[in-house]
Amino acid sequence: MPRLAVWIVRTSLIYLGCGFTVGAYMLLNKGLTLDPNYRAWIYMHEELMLIGWMLQFVIGVGFWILPRFMQAPKYGAIELAWGAYLILNAGVLVTIAGGWLEGPGSSAALIGRALEIVAAAAFAVYIWPRVRPFLVG
Ligand code: HEM
Repeated sequence: MPRLAVWIVRTSLIYLGCGFTVGAYMLLNKGLTLDPNYRAWIYMHEELMLIGWMLQFVIGVGFWILPRFMQAPKYGAIELAWGAYLILNAGVLVTIAGGWLEGPGSSAALIGRALEIVAAAAFAVYIWPRVRPFLVG
């Protein structure tokens, strides 16, 4: 597995652990109601689980497994993929912080979402030439 895929998949697993913990906290409060405002954690839970965990895991496995160029450079414009990884995680963190501090519709949360869109577009541009059929069959 290439180094960048290791970084992306491990980062996604960290988000899975965080998102699971937040989900478990909300679930606990559905039963025991220790924190009546537990629904304030939903936005963070969604962001951690949908973007931080699921989307990022898909990107990591896609980077690892899609066909590689047979001639150098083996992985194509890898700087673009590193950039997508860094911008995606900046986007997740800014979205969570903005949503928590100023609300889901705040400008900080929207900036986070914009970073995520830029990251997704950068990864799509990077991976496009690696989505190709086998030469036979
Ligand atoms: C891939 C895994 C998961 C995804 C994509 C996911 C996604 C979501 C989403 C989108 C919501 C918002 C639903 C709404 O607005 O009504 C939500 C709510 C919630 N999730 Fe998860 N979740 C995941 C795993 C978990 C786990 C593992 C737990 C518990 C340990 C959990 C507990 C909850 C709870 C308690 C709510 C709040 C429900 C409510 O009060 O309306 N989730 N989740």
